[in-house]
Amino acid sequence: MNTNETPLLQVKNLRVEFPTRRGTLLALDDISFDIAAGEILGVVGESGAGKSLTGAAIIGLLEPPGRVAAGEIRLDGRRIDNLPYEEMRKVRGRQIGAIFQDPLTSLNPLYTVGRQLVETILTHLPMSPAQARQRAIQLLKDTGIPAAEQRIDHYPHQFSGGMRQRVVIALALAAEPKLIVADEPTTALDVSIQAQIIALLKRLCKEKGAAVMLVTHDMGVIAETCDRVAVMYAGRIVEIGPVQDVIHAPAHPYTVGLMGSIPSMDEDRDRLTQIDGAMPRLTAIPKGCAFNPRCPQAFDRCRIERPELMDAGRTRAACWLHSPQERRAA
Ligand SMILES: Nc1ncnc2c1ncn2[C@@H]1O[C@H](COP(=O)(O)OP(=O)(O)OP(=O)(O)O)[C@@H](O)[C@H]1O
Ligand code: SF4
Ligand SMILES: [Mg+2]
Repeated sequence: MNTNETPLLQVKNLRVEFPTRRGTLLALDDISFDIAAGEILGVVGESGAGKSLTGAAIIGLLEPPGRVAAGEIRLDGRRIDNLPYEEMRKVRGRQIGAIFQDPLTSLNPLYTVGRQLVETILTHLPMSPAQARQRAIQLLKDTGIPAAEQRIDHYPHQFSGGMRQRVVIALALAAEPKLIVADEPTTALDVSIQAQIIALLKRLCKEKGAAVMLVTHDMGVIAETCDRVAVMYAGRIVEIGPVQDVIHAPAHPYTVGLMGSIPSMDEDRDRLTQIDGAMPRLTAIPKGCAFNPRCPQAFDRCRIERPELMDAGRTRAACWLHSPQERRAA
């Protein structure tokens, strides 16, 4: 039912809460974004911003007591945030592939990688065991695993970290999912192979027309891989837009700080500028704009009223500097 007008993934006004004895923690507040088929959306932001929770909510794996308290998530037009557990498990296996930081969390150490691939394929695609094995070998080849015909019968511990993450990518793609959620897929890997893995992920997803949500701390990866970027701060999206605009002409002061703090390949690490202060805890989110205590451009309104995302040149930013009134005054 996916038409050009319906993005593959639609997240609308998503709110995630953790009920605690001392009250309810609001961990994700009014998150909205879309990803089109074949598009890669990068998600960045400091530790604790809510990147992983957003991914977990989409794949239906929020850890209790965390729960989706409001909003909706649609895949190909169909609501998936309120499905019964078994239904969602099927969606997750068939339509959504997940890739996490540590490949071992996705692989069963007791089974050969071939068995895991073949089982996934047989569960979700109409194939014979022999066809599934052929497909598994092809997937391993596609992900750049040498001697795939032999390696298919090896166990996860017989692979290096980088090779293991290739296996996880093969597994995530095994059922031809429409959406891939990749949460820091290369953070645990050797720097020298990170770029290869990201390039592989990008190539395979573009080839297969899968939509991708890619969480990463690596701005170089974002620049080379993503079509658009969402910047998160304290449980909200503070800026979202085309990758080149967010990187080279950020509209939100937090994004400006974040871009300033990314060492680029050809620069020295000591030229790195940090944003002063720390992101607030969920229990102490400031009134008004959550970034106001750290913002070099904060003014009165920022301490009282919370800005929603608004048009800010080529991106959208949740910042009063871009409200029509402020622009008139400037
Ligand atoms: N089970 C939980 N109970 C209470 N709060 C939680 C729970 N899980 C996550 N949080 C809180 O939700 C917020 C967002 O966490 P999340 O894991 O999404 O951050 P992140 O952006 O992925 O950070 P990182 O870059 O460190 O991975 C954090 O403040 C975290 O403390
Ligand atoms: S709304 Fe105000 S405090 Fe928040 S980022 Fe914009 S200028 Fe800074
Ligand atoms: Mg995380």
